[in-house]
Amino acid sequence: MSEKGMNLTLKIWRQKNATSKGKIETYKVADISEHMSFLEMMDVLNEQLINEGQEPIAFDHDCREGICGMCSLHINGEAHGPDRGVTTCQLHMRMFNDGDTIYIEPFRAKAFPVIKDLIIDRTAFDRIQHAGGFVSVNTSGNTQDANALPIPKADADKAFDAATCIGCGACVASCKNASAMLYVSAKVSQFSLLPQGKVEAKDRVLNMVEQMDKEGFGNCTNTGACEVECPKGISLENIARMNSEYLKASITKEA
Ligand code: SF4
Ligand code: FES
Repeated sequence: MSEKGMNLTLKIWRQKNATSKGKIETYKVADISEHMSFLEMMDVLNEQLINEGQEPIAFDHDCREGICGMCSLHINGEAHGPDRGVTTCQLHMRMFNDGDTIYIEPFRAKAFPVIKDLIIDRTAFDRIQHAGGFVSVNTSGNTQDANALPIPKADADKAFDAATCIGCGACVASCKNASAMLYVSAKVSQFSLLPQGKVEAKDRVLNMVEQMDKEGFGNCTNTGACEVECPKGISLENIARMNSEYLKASITKEA
């Protein structure tokens, strides 16, 4: 049985470059299969635009399997669209209906300026990571056996869960304050729960939070939209942990 695909109206943010003023443009796509991913639907549109001699829409993507965190689209006002626990590249067209109008915009935050169309600059996240999101351990030939330091299963699980953050920025885009607390707290928590993260714990949290503030992200007011829209289910518990790590570090760190 051959099924007819969906006909859709797409309202897409177009912006030539970082300094130009952008606007929403309207496009039509026809015969879109419900089995396509959202990005495949965008590919169909871009092919159409290229065939018509128009400039294709610039959007970010890399792995297309929910790992790299590049595909950052605001779809109908939601980061990564209407599904839960998935990135834009994992979002399927079956979440939409024939005749729908879909609004597609870049993630919006002062610290994530638009570069072109739907592509934003998320290097602010990289700079936060450089400020402390690492462990300085010499691993050249003198590492301990992995089982030498027992780690409670609950801590290992929480550290692992925090480490699943892919740095997509949906938390920032979903927050009314454009706060990066969920992201930064995941990056702090993945180390603070493990022995190898304890050595630099104070510097890490202080430096990463300082960099976060410098980048112009807003404050957390416990709304929780970040947790709802996070494709990896990063818990707000990480923010509580980061706040307590930060407080401990501020009180006990020598001047
Ligand atoms: S915390 Fe979630 S929403 Fe935020 S950057 Fe990490 S994976 Fe993306
Ligand atoms: S393209 Fe890598 S997470 Fe979507």
